[in-house]
Amino acid sequence: MRMYDLIMKKRNGGSLSKEEIDWMIRSYTDGEIPDYQMSAMTMAIYFQGMTTRETADLTLAMAHSGDMLDLSDIPGIKVDKHSTGGVGDKTSLTLTPMVAACGLKVAKMSGRGLGHTGGTIDKLESFPGFSTGISMDTFKENVRTIGLSIMGQTLNLAPADKKLYALRDVTATVDNMSLIASSIMSKKLAAGADAIVLDVKTGSGAFMKKEEDAVALAKEMVSLGNHAGRKTLAVISDMDQPLGFAVGNILEVQEAIDTLNGKGPADFTELCLTLGSLMLVAGGICADADQGRALCKEAISSGKALQKLGQLVEAQGGDPSYVEDPSKFPKAPIIREVLSEEEGYITHIECDEIGMCSLVMGGGRATKESTIDLRVGLILQKKRGDFVKKGDCLAVLHAADEETFLQAKERFLKALTFGKEEPKAVPFIKQIIEA
Ligand code: URA
Repeated sequence: MRMYDLIMKKRNGGSLSKEEIDWMIRSYTDGEIPDYQMSAMTMAIYFQGMTTRETADLTLAMAHSGDMLDLSDIPGIKVDKHSTGGVGDKTSLTLTPMVAACGLKVAKMSGRGLGHTGGTIDKLESFPGFSTGISMDTFKENVRTIGLSIMGQTLNLAPADKKLYALRDVTATVDNMSLIASSIMSKKLAAGADAIVLDVKTGSGAFMKKEEDAVALAKEMVSLGNHAGRKTLAVISDMDQPLGFAVGNILEVQEAIDTLNGKGPADFTELCLTLGSLMLVAGGICADADQGRALCKEAISSGKALQKLGQLVEAQGGDPSYVEDPSKFPKAPIIREVLSEEEGYITHIECDEIGMCSLVMGGGRATKESTIDLRVGLILQKKRGDFVKKGDCLAVLHAADEETFLQAKERFLKALTFGKEEPKAVPFIKQIIEA
């Protein structure tokens, strides 16, 4: 086979066969197809699209390009969860201990943040000593004993996607439905869980800005997962403003702990309960979502969910006293309010810009190699629909120095739109997609 012929076929609107896709992914992973030919292919896919069958073949080819984890020696149904990424998204930190406290086995692979979206691994590393670079044996042992383990993607999981994603990132070919769906699902299939619950975001802080695109992506991923024999479902939720109030690593860990103490923001708590109840049903812990929700609430009110986070932190080398007393985390040297220069209702928040405020203060990576300042970020004091007077506090910024504080403040103020009319409330959970 020749890559030239496959590029031409796709460029002219043809469909690639399973054999062609398998050969292409194998050869690209092995370094036999150069990046410039693969870039031409992703651009051809971007413009011509892929059929459902081609997307499924691409997903499986990428999933099998490296190790396929076998979790079958851990008793019970193992459930994984994946978010398409957003601003203030600390969901895994609250959700996974909450469902593990209900008896579910959670074996989770997580990533680091890139760009304006944060990653669970960076947040967990806020606990002094915490390691996500644990061995496969420790990972499985912790799932068996405490019901929960979270490790970084240090293994050779879907290496084809790793290469392809980096290429798409620099060739303007990320936002194609088939490429996103196959990228996410190849990693999830390789990670070995029996069931997968997807947290698909839509809005100005998400990949999928329009709800119909988020729904189409969710349907595609749910179908890919179910066809591969893993029970898969998706929740579409609002990312037109940050999730909760906190944005930034330590600040988000503190908000996740508050939520495990039953004192979390309403939107974030609702997302955790919705995803949690579906995970418990998928994992065979309870019969329906109402029962699942009641179990999740009980795990929080009894303190068992918080205790589970402490067990996770301790089992992976971290200091669990920070779970009991989150005020122990280090603080940024500058903690200062941003006051409103306008009056009116907040009608729109440019959510990815809020993520960028945290990034410019050092809370995110500009490149994969950057180190991040876990202390910086912001706590929103107002959200969409709130009425604000001149001089009211909009947010509290946590910055490492004066210069980045001023940069973030300027960006923050530009990210908000004010109006005279109260904006119409939008549902936070938009849809649940099952099959
Ligand atoms: N997340 C992924 O893992 N892949 C994509 O293509 C987009 C988001």
